Formats: sequence, structure tokens, C-alpha cells
Amino acid sequence: MKIDGVPSRTIWLQPDDWSVGIIDQTALPHKIERLTLTTVEDAARAIKTMQVRGAPLIGVTAAYGVALAMRSDPSDDALERAVAFLAAQRPTAINLRWALNDLREALRPLSPDDRAQAAYDRAARIANDDVEMCRRIGVNGLALIKELAAKKNGEPVNVLTHCNAGWLACVDWGTATAPIYQANDAGISVHVWVDETRPRNQGAALTAFELLHHGVPHTLIADNAGGHLMQHGDIDLIIVGTDRVTASGDVANKIGTYLKALAAHDNGVPFYVALPSSTIDWSIADGADIPIEERAAEEVLRVQGRLFDGTVASVAVTAEGTPARNPAFDVTPARLVTGFITERGICKASREGLLSLYPERKSAAA
Ligand code: MRU
Repeated sequence: MKIDGVPSRTIWLQPDDWSVGIIDQTALPHKIERLTLTTVEDAARAIKTMQVRGAPLIGVTAAYGVALAMRSDPSDDALERAVAFLAAQRPTAINLRWALNDLREALRPLSPDDRAQAAYDRAARIANDDVEMCRRIGVNGLALIKELAAKKNGEPVNVLTHCNAGWLACVDWGTATAPIYQANDAGISVHVWVDETRPRNQGAALTAFELLHHGVPHTLIADNAGGHLMQHGDIDLIIVGTDRVTASGDVANKIGTYLKALAAHDNGVPFYVALPSSTIDWSIADGADIPIEERAAEEVLRVQGRLFDGTVASVAVTAEGTPARNPAFDVTPARLVTGFITERGICKASREGLLSLYPERKSAAA
């Protein structure tokens, strides 16, 4: 997608053909800073500190992290160490483990001399596959938006999204945003309600930034406003992303997603989850088994923003000594999800629904 009219991806191989470029997402939206990763430690730090974030993107970054590790030491031990080290950086998004398993399985049988190049090739393939899966999610989700647009007599289709499941969370297109970008680019009138998504404000800082740069009409709202807007008929459709979907269709996503799903259920608003198949964890059925990341209380107690003089600062929002807790994700039970938008099509949020699109996973599904 575009930044200042220039097509961009979130991660790329630098012209030296080995170091890895990223957009530093902790500096957005106030500064567009590009960084270079040269070691597995750099890749791990970028994931941990959320310079890169979003389920698909941390998977791709981890894959390049293994490539960087293999470049300096392609031994069996170094491979196992790199995989374990990168996997430990964030617990909830399954894409991280999925990408690392993919590399581990592909590299282990190879002779050490061949591992670095194979890892770069594999990482590039995961990145390119992600772009194509997101594009297909866009095509499949566009049908839903078209259906709603047909009933709106030229009025915009109002879509609410939570957190950032946009191109910044992936390599390009995004998951939840792909249908929105494709509708907008096809001339369908669409407007996005953007949840700010406290405590880290991925909606305010990242989704609003993306939509602004791509020219998609949007309005930022406080996280607590969604229910009110649904009661007043201002939301036609909700599309969110996900960090892990279980084999029976439970959905882990950014904290607050569950509350949006409850309000959507109460108000009859369709609630869709967009995901590439790399986000399905076939090994578990119950959402309660998904590990939920607990992040620093500091993120709740403080907020980062630009001051009037242009400097970016972190300021306290509470009295000193206020205790806080910061679970970063929640689980929305499958029964509250209208459907999944995947690269293979749209299905019900259930074991049967998922297996109708991915029949080859029947024996793997918990
Ligand atoms: O903590 P983050 O910013 O990595 O969380 C991101 C989300 O929760 C996204 O909705 C999810 O990863 C889906 S991204 C296509």
C-alpha cells in the first residue's frame, strides 16, 4: 500500500541482499523511520519492542531472523537456538511459531553450507505468500461489502475495525483492511470507524495512518464508542484481524475485540474475522488454551503522543502509584463470530466451517 503516494511493504531485503529493512512502527504516525536488521538479536528486539507487530508480520520477521542467524552460524545448535529465541519474544500470535516451524523443518535436513540461502528463500516465500493471501482475503471480503453497498443507495458502507489488522500488520494489503482497500479502489463508497485501541493505540496510530495515506474515508473513535454507534445503526459491518484461531473457531485478537463482538451480537451487526490460514492453530480446539500475552502495566499508565512543539513524549495519565494490569489479547468465542474471511473463501466460524475450506487438515484438527 502507499505512504505519501509511494507503494511500500513493511519488510524487505536491502540492496546488499542480506540485511533486512523494516518500518519502525513505534515511531508512527509522527515519524516514518526505516531501520535495518543485521542480526537475529535485531530481529528478536524488533518483535519484542513492537517495531514490527501484527501476527503475519512477526512471522515474516522471525523467518528473516533465522536467515540472519544462519548467515553467521549455520550449525544445528545455532538453528535450534535461533528458533527458540525468536519464538520466545511474543506468545499469542501463532504465525510466529508457524513461520519458525516452517523454517526449522526446511533447514534441518540441509547441509549447514546451504542453510543461509535456503532460509532467505523461504522467508521471501512466506512474505510473498502473505501478500497473495491478503489480496485473496480482500477479493473474498469485497463480496460482503458489495452486498451491503447494494442496499445503501450510494451511502457509504460503514465498517468498524479494531486495532491494526492493516498492511502494517502484514507485508501488504492487511487482513481486515484488504476488503476495505479493494472496495475503495473499486469506487465503492466505504467509511471506516477506527477504534483507537488502548493501551498502545494501534488503531489511532497505525490504522488511521494507513487509511489516511491511502485516501480511505475514516473516523477515529474512542474504544468505548462502538456499542453506542451500533445501537444507532451507524455500523453496517465489523471486520477484525486475529492472532490465533482455534480448530473450532475461537478467535484471539487485540484486547477489546470480545466486547465489540458482544455489542455486535446484541445489535445484529455482522462480525467477521479476516485471516490467512497461517493464523489457524489446528492443534487446539478451545480458545481458553491460547496463551494471552501480559504486557507492562506502564503501557496502561502512560500514553505517547506529539506535543504542540512537535516533540514526541510519553506522559502519565494516572496518579503515581496507581496499580494497572495489561492483558494484550482476549478470546472471542466462535458463537459470536458471523464468519471467517480467508484466502480460500468465507466460512462459518466453526470446525465444520474451517474444514470445508481446509479439508486437508481434517486429521490434524483438534
Ligand atoms: O499487539 P499487536 O499490535 O501485534 O496486535 C495486533 C493484532 O491484534 C491484530 O489484530 C492481529 O495481529 C491481526 S493482524 C493481521
